[in-house]
Amino acid sequence: MDKHYLNDAKNVIVGMDKLNERFSGKTILMTGAAGFLGTQFVHYFLALNDQRVVSAPCHVVAMDNYLRGVPEWLTILQERKDIEVIAADIVRLATYPRADFIIHAASVASPIFYRKYPIETMDANIWGLRQLLDHARSNPPESLLFFSSSEIYGDPDSQHIPTDENYRGYVSCTGPRACYDESKRFGETLCVAFWNIHHVPVKIARPFNNYGPGLRLNDRRVLPDFFRDVLNNRDVMILSDGRSTRTFCYVSDAIEGYLRLILSHENGESFNIGTDAPEVSMADLAYMVIRVCGKDVKVVRKVSKDAHYLTDNPQRRCPDIAKARQRLGFRPKVLLKQGLQQMRDYYLDHMDDG
Ligand SMILES: NC(=O)c1ccc[n+]([C@@H]2O[C@H](COP(=O)([O-])OP(=O)(O)OC[C@H]3O[C@@H](n4cnc5c(N)ncnc54)[C@H](O)[C@@H]3O)[C@@H](O)[C@H]2O)c1
Repeated sequence: MDKHYLNDAKNVIVGMDKLNERFSGKTILMTGAAGFLGTQFVHYFLALNDQRVVSAPCHVVAMDNYLRGVPEWLTILQERKDIEVIAADIVRLATYPRADFIIHAASVASPIFYRKYPIETMDANIWGLRQLLDHARSNPPESLLFFSSSEIYGDPDSQHIPTDENYRGYVSCTGPRACYDESKRFGETLCVAFWNIHHVPVKIARPFNNYGPGLRLNDRRVLPDFFRDVLNNRDVMILSDGRSTRTFCYVSDAIEGYLRLILSHENGESFNIGTDAPEVSMADLAYMVIRVCGKDVKVVRKVSKDAHYLTDNPQRRCPDIAKARQRLGFRPKVLLKQGLQQMRDYYLDHMDDG
């Protein structure tokens, strides 16, 4: 098992403590298993078995369309008995395996790519989810987790920063990011309806910028872009004025939050999963990456050739996580500097992975 993923999985295991045993002997259907969060989930479940944390091994069904290829870690692990790989499009699968827990993380998640593939993005978030909800209705799992997004809030005004779950959003339904934002919003509506009408035990996570090992260097999200420049000894290119701000939640903290949510009784409820550490501007983030990598490069501003690159891009994104703190016992711990160091070490070992 890759040492970076194993390290994160061990931290999740420590944080989950007695809750780990709830996965003993269970089958978990993981959609989007080859993605950033899917990879970390799969490693957590396999580490539960390897470290003998659970009294009976759990079984993972790793489902993905593998459009970007089967990742190397999965090629190595797929011979194991406790993992089964299904290569299929979530929207077109004829039958779904029965599972105790279903985690639906399959989606196009990076802004550059969802703007390029808007229909596929909506399909996974709406029709893929609908198929899973129908499947869950006839084969009831203990719990189903839908991955929504902080993007459902759109570009909140300053009165709603930090943003709590009651904020209804300021979102365009036809703009360049609408395929993602609106399909996540509709996905949440579907989840609530299936809980209210059919009692499908579904929970909704709204991730706020998770980061860490496993985010591909060519994924076109902000941190991989900055690391790719810096580690290649190039100046960091910022395609904005650098003043928009985000918070960044390290992946092992976030995974613990999602696992606490799927094990909870919070059916039909949405939870922000992120960090309440101070926001950081994109310019400051670029300088932090440079310092963490110890490189002598500069930050330069450029205008994107893509006229819509910044259209509807939120100025600030910062969660209020009081609900997750109180109702799930969620406590993000990893400082941004520590998380960036983990990410740097991962990239140094995986520069050729793309
Ligand atoms: N990482 C974050 O900070 C973040 C923030 C907000 C929301 N999310 C949501 O969390 C989930 C996971 O995000 P991620 O960062 O791991 O994304 P990712 O892009 O790294 O992984 C998504 C995976 O889903 C797969 N996929 C896409 N469409 C599919 C389909 N139709 N059928 C089967 N597989 C398909 C892709 O091949 C990919 O491996 C997504 O739903 C995303 O929208 C993540």
